[in-house]
Amino acid sequence: MFLEHLFLALTGALFLSTALVSAQRPSSTPICDYYAETILGANTEANQRLLMVLLLHTTVLGNYTTPNTGIAVHGIAAPGTFRGQKVNLIKYFTGEIASTNNGTTPHGVPILLLDGGGAAPLLKNVSSYNTSSLQYHIFDHIEQYFGTLLGCSKQGGSALPAYQGRASMYEVHKFMDLSAAEMGWFNLQATLAIASLGFSKQDVGIVNDTLYNVFSQRCSPAVSLVPKNAGPQLQSLCINEDCPLDKNATCALYPNKGVGVAPEVVNATNASASGTGTVTGTAAVATSTGAVFPSRTVTAASIIKARV
Ligand SMILES: *[C@@H]1O[C@H](CO)[C@@H](O)[C@H](O)[C@H]1NC(C)=O
Ligand SMILES: *[C@@H]1O[C@H](CO)[C@@H](O)[C@H](O)[C@H]1NC(C)=O
Ligand SMILES: *[C@@H]1O[C@H](CO)[C@@H](O)[C@H](O)[C@H]1NC(C)=O
Ligand SMILES: *[C@@H]1O[C@H](CO)[C@@H](O)[C@H](O)[C@H]1NC(C)=O
Ligand SMILES: *[C@@H]1O[C@H](CO)[C@@H](O)[C@H](O)[C@H]1NC(C)=O
Ligand SMILES: *[C@@H]1O[C@H](CO)[C@@H](O)[C@H](O)[C@H]1NC(C)=O
Ligand SMILES: *[C@@H]1O[C@H](CO)[C@@H](O)[C@H](O)[C@H]1NC(C)=O
Ligand SMILES: *[C@@H]1O[C@H](CO)[C@@H](O)[C@H](O)[C@H]1NC(C)=O
Repeated sequence: MFLEHLFLALTGALFLSTALVSAQRPSSTPICDYYAETILGANTEANQRLLMVLLLHTTVLGNYTTPNTGIAVHGIAAPGTFRGQKVNLIKYFTGEIASTNNGTTPHGVPILLLDGGGAAPLLKNVSSYNTSSLQYHIFDHIEQYFGTLLGCSKQGGSALPAYQGRASMYEVHKFMDLSAAEMGWFNLQATLAIASLGFSKQDVGIVNDTLYNVFSQRCSPAVSLVPKNAGPQLQSLCINEDCPLDKNATCALYPNKGVGVAPEVVNATNASASGTGTVTGTAAVATSTGAVFPSRTVTAASIIKARV
């Protein structure tokens, strides 16, 4: 079916007629392998990992390093505007709102996820200063996820381990209540990021179609994605009522018929009382030139324990 077709196009397992494929990338070569070679010089596991680092960190921070094909990327860390709507995705990472699914509570919990140095290590191409931090696990997991999604053939060793996170992207994001503008903004920054690194227009389009068709609509049917052997999983990230409804919507499979619930806002007044820790410090704004993330220092045992 349609999604399977996209996935195969990403991973190079689909042999399309030559008229349909990029002038550069052979249809049998996965996107990851192709750009590890052409952008970073050799198709090694370490370069496949670095490619995932560059695309993720550029999506988050904005363009911060070379290679850069002359395309500026704003990044999702700094607030922005998508089709006239203000978006600010960093709030999902700072503990300002109760939006993290820690795996045990039936509602989101407010957790500072940028506890491993914030933007500073990301600017140095590493996930975190601290391998015990949530930041370390989140960035590593996302890189592993994209590694599989983009067909990295060398994945599985120590440089780019197999994906270690949860298989259902809906489960990971279900307490965020992401809107169409928030998803559109993320997808725009991610596609600008890969274009800035040197992905062809055609391949940017394939990745964009996947981000849109798999993750950016409400009530999408369960899809077997990453890891494949996890079987079909709910993958809709966009669950706010303003998200477009999937043409093959299966809302009954989703809790609350697929309708998201806005996460609670947590502030200094009640963060302590709710047992989630003490919120101190003020927000600083990250920019595409690399300033530190907005982040609050939250101290609580639950931060360390949380599953991400
Ligand atoms: C909807 O589901 C049908 C039947 O499974 C499938 O043939 C079709 O490709 C799907 N459409 C989309 C847009 O995924
Ligand atoms: C981001 O990309 C733009 C366009 O190539 C460039 O002018 C700018 O210097 C880059 N910024 C950084 C921090 O690399
Ligand atoms: C990050 O990786 C890019 C691509 O290889 C490289 O140009 C840049 O120097 C690296 N940054 C650091 C701090 O190592
Ligand atoms: C980070 O490492 C330091 C020791 O270097 C440790 O005290 C701290 O608890 C760690 N933080 C997290 C969030 O894991
Ligand atoms: C990505 O997909 C969206 C939704 O289909 C579309 O509006 C947008 O123009 C696409 N962007 C790119 C770069 O292909
Ligand atoms: C904290 O949030 C509550 C409701 O969400 C609001 O009434 C209150 O003014 C906020 N306090 C501060 C200091 O922002
Ligand atoms: C914080 O206070 C607001 C307003 O009183 C409340 O709705 C929310 O549940 C509180 N958050 C937590 C995590 O206790
Ligand atoms: C999830 O959050 C709740 C509420 O803060 C807490 O009681 C529970 O222990 C947390 N679970 C994990 C695995 O951290």
